[in-house]
Parts: sequence; C-alpha cells; structure tokens
Amino acid sequence: MDDPDHDELTRQVVDRFADTPDPRLKEVMASLVRHLHAFAREVRLSEAEWREGIEFLTRVGRITSERRQEFILLSDTLGLSMLTVAMNSARRAGATESTVLGPFHVGGAPRRGQGDDIAAGAAGTPCEVRGAVRGVDGEPIAGARIEVWQADAEGKYDVQRPELAAHRARAVLETDADGRYGYRTVVPAAYPIPDDGPVGAMLRATRRHPWRPAHLHFMIAAPGYSTLVTHVFRAGDPYLDSDAVFGVRQSLIVEWKQRPDGSLLVEFDFALDREDAVAGRPERR
Ligand code: BEZ
Ligand code: FE
Repeated sequence: MDDPDHDELTRQVVDRFADTPDPRLKEVMASLVRHLHAFAREVRLSEAEWREGIEFLTRVGRITSERRQEFILLSDTLGLSMLTVAMNSARRAGATESTVLGPFHVGGAPRRGQGDDIAAGAAGTPCEVRGAVRGVDGEPIAGARIEVWQADAEGKYDVQRPELAAHRARAVLETDADGRYGYRTVVPAAYPIPDDGPVGAMLRATRRHPWRPAHLHFMIAAPGYSTLVTHVFRAGDPYLDSDAVFGVRQSLIVEWKQRPDGSLLVEFDFALDREDAVAGRPERR
C-alpha cells in the first residue's frame, strides 16, 4: 500500500458492504468505516494506542450489567447521547426542549395525586414543584402522564441506595382538568455521574469533572402528543456551563424561588408538540 493515507484500503472496506440488503444499514456501515478511518489517519493512531482503545472498550463492557450501563455513560460524556436527542426531537417553535433520559429512570414508580409529597423519606429542603402541561398552541392537556424522578440532598437517587426497600423521590402523576400538575418533594443537589469505572478514568485523565448541575427529571406523555423527556435546572448552579453529559438547555433553567418558610418553589410550564406534527415532517433517515 503506497498511498500515504491508505485511501484505497478505506474504499475496499466500504465496497465490501456493497451487497448489504438494508439500505440504511449499508449507509451507516459505510459512513462508520469512513469516519473511523479518517479518525485513525488524523491522529496517526499508533498500534499501542489502538490496543489501549480496545482495552478501554473491553473495560466498559466488563463493568456493564443489568444495573449499570457504562456504554451509555460513555456516549453521554462524549456528547453523543445529547446530539442524538437534539437531532431527533424535531420541535416546533414553542415546544419544550428535550434532554437526556439518564440511567436513573426505572419502571414501577408509585402513582401520586395532585399536591402529594413524593419524597417518601428522601432527605432535603422541602420544595414544591408546579405548573401546567399544554400543547404548543396553548391548549391545556388534561390527564397527561407525568413521571418525575430526582436525586436527594446528597445527590443520590433511590436506586443508588441498595438498602432502600421502596422508591423515593420518584412518582407518576397526572394533570388535572386544566392541565395543571403539582407535587411536593425535596430540593435535589448537584451530583457526580458514576465515576468509579473506565468512564471516570477517562474523565480524570482528561481533567474533566463528573458533575451534573441540580435538576428535576420529567417524562410527559399524552395521547396525540409526542412524549417529552426533559429536565428543569436550577438557575445559579455552578455546573450549568460544564454539565458532564452536555444536557443543559438555556430554556430549561429557572429560578427555584425561596419562600419565607425556607422551602423552595419551582414553577415550570411544559409545551408538548402534537404527534402528527412530528410524523408529518420529512423522514430523517
Ligand atoms: C441523570 O441525569 O440522571 C444522568 C444523565 C446522564 C448520565 C448520568 C446521570
Ligand atoms: Fe439526573
């Protein structure tokens, strides 16, 4: 191979996928090979570095289990998760922005009613969260399913405390006839993403911190509307500009207001896009 950039090799590999029956798979594989080769060329990848890369991915695989998804964490810290969310949540002006789902969403959260305390023993400063769910045209959405989950005052989710027998600081709620929701909880703290594995080692080697700014998680679903997965962030948090997983959107940052009794009030209105509005857009593939 005389070509200093080995372009011929890249062409050969891409051509080897010529008979792929699924056109999308063919497109993805060809692009993956081209970009992977371009990356190796750009950094002039050494064989030792190639081996280190393979060993790193092997460690990511080894630590991954039913309870821990290190590959998603890697995708999150490389910004790939947020890029994919942003590209696929085609949104009309006025619809609430989406952000990453994260690893702490689990099934089986308890149903709670309007105004209920969802903390269930989680420690922290009391906090009320309330607002409305509407369509982008302003119509209130009654009966929307709102799933909420969050960390406690120590920055920990219930699922990170194996000693707990029941869920804490997570719930399934429903909007009332006017599209309104409200619940009581505790103020979540900023927290580091799990950094005791290979992703944490990557962050340390590159002098990156593992912190996420304080936030509340929401997943909102209603018939006829596209499901919204998002967060509400706290204005003034020191990590808003350096979220380890790049999930912050300006439109999702609000003031968490201090009340005279020491508790906080978070008010946030969500706007959902209609499902047909999304389905009607040109296909993205
Ligand atoms: C979270 O917000 O729960 C989260 C998102 C991505 C990685 C780790 C945690
Ligand atoms: Fe979170």
